Amino acid sequence: MTKRAFIKSYGCQMNVYDAQRMAGQLEAAGYAVTDDAEGADLVLLNTCHIREKAAEKVYSELGRWKDARGASGERTIVGVAGCVAQAEGAEIIARAPRVDFVVGPQAYHRLPSLIDGASRGEKPVDTDFPAEDKFDHLAKPTRRAIAARGVTAFLTVQEGCDKFCAFCVVPYTRGAEVSRPVDAVVDEARALVDAGVREITLLGQNVNAYHGADAGGAVGLAGLVRRLAAIEGLARIRYTTSHPNDMTVDLLDAHRDEEKLMPYLHLPVQAGADRILKAMNRKHTAADYLRLIEAIRAARPDMALSGDFIVGFPGETDADFEATLALVREVGYASAYSFKYSPRPGTPAAGSTDQVSEAVKSERLQRLQSLLSEQSAVFNRAQVGRTLPVLVEKAGRREGQRVGRSPYLQPVHIPESAGAVGEIVDVHVHASEGNSLFGDVPRRDAQPDRAARSAAA
Ligand code: 5AD
Ligand code: SF4
Repeated sequence: MTKRAFIKSYGCQMNVYDAQRMAGQLEAAGYAVTDDAEGADLVLLNTCHIREKAAEKVYSELGRWKDARGASGERTIVGVAGCVAQAEGAEIIARAPRVDFVVGPQAYHRLPSLIDGASRGEKPVDTDFPAEDKFDHLAKPTRRAIAARGVTAFLTVQEGCDKFCAFCVVPYTRGAEVSRPVDAVVDEARALVDAGVREITLLGQNVNAYHGADAGGAVGLAGLVRRLAAIEGLARIRYTTSHPNDMTVDLLDAHRDEEKLMPYLHLPVQAGADRILKAMNRKHTAADYLRLIEAIRAARPDMALSGDFIVGFPGETDADFEATLALVREVGYASAYSFKYSPRPGTPAAGSTDQVSEAVKSERLQRLQSLLSEQSAVFNRAQVGRTLPVLVEKAGRREGQRVGRSPYLQPVHIPESAGAVGEIVDVHVHASEGNSLFGDVPRRDAQPDRAARSAAA
């Protein structure tokens, strides 16, 4: 009887991608990976350490596996992966003895031997940063596995971060910036496209610092985008997440003239007061950021902007917070994520004596979020009455509906008859509600060239 494995992922898109690669490892080790936690012989919690609650959730989730047995009748093996694994290592087993092994993000290619050790009762912990490239060893997703996932895919091109923002654990949990070679990325993209993927999102903690090797030397993200854009059948390219200081002129040029590169940019600024930006070690001012936004809009006037914000960073005054609101008003975001500052052990800001109270953080977060959600409603409403190319992704939640995405990453709900999964159709948007748009393709039979256009889109 084949043993079953269940992977639960928390946090960022890179974890989603890593989970897919780990699934490949587990399949190679003889497990069937399922979406059903019930009766799993192996459970892998793929954790996130970016904010407090994420890690706490993992510890409470572990309780659920206390007496778990797999369908085989044997005790379920429980592993902890991801950034909590990297940051806390053996501490996890000390705090949660139910855990059988711990594996950091740089050691996923050693999963099979860790599982072997765990099944012998050894409780292995592997959080080493190896010299070799983990991607060389991770199982490539099979064609069937890719096809099962649909028409959009993530592809990690860069991992780690050298920026050391004072609040952030990423440089410690994911290590120094490493870029994958251009050919490895292009090959993986080709395999995805061959299996039916039409849109690829390039992932990296600091993706626009990408500098992968090519026969001719290092290639930046703009160069990589151009190489990928040449792949026939690939219709859309996105990337996330970017640091303002790594937005190069050639990347702006790529946004100006590379049609496959979608007009949506996640460009976190975190705060609007120069004092706080300095304390955060962001190495740019609010004015620098606003000038950059202006240059981006000059290159791509319809660019939808997204960002991350932290409220209540140590020492943040009312005036500093007002500066964040002012910056948000000036930019006008299509979407954004905002968080209360959470002290992360081992990061410089965690030791500050100037912590902001929980009550003040909550109040600021609420004010910021209401401004940001107002802006995203304005952005969404502005699409009503327009015709947008929509990549149809999957069946909608309601019978007879499909859902796709606009170039600006908004979910667009359309009738089933408007287009097949994988097609790009010109949708007339007639309503916006929450984060979603609703539309239809008028007189579909009057668009005989639709397939040809979507292939060229
Ligand atoms: N507290 C709150 N938010 C944080 N982020 C990163 N570290 C912290 C922290 N210690 C946010 C930043 C980052 C996003 C991924 O998470 O806004 O851009
Ligand atoms: Fe963390 Fe992003 Fe700053 Fe890197 S650039 S330290 S990942 S917030």
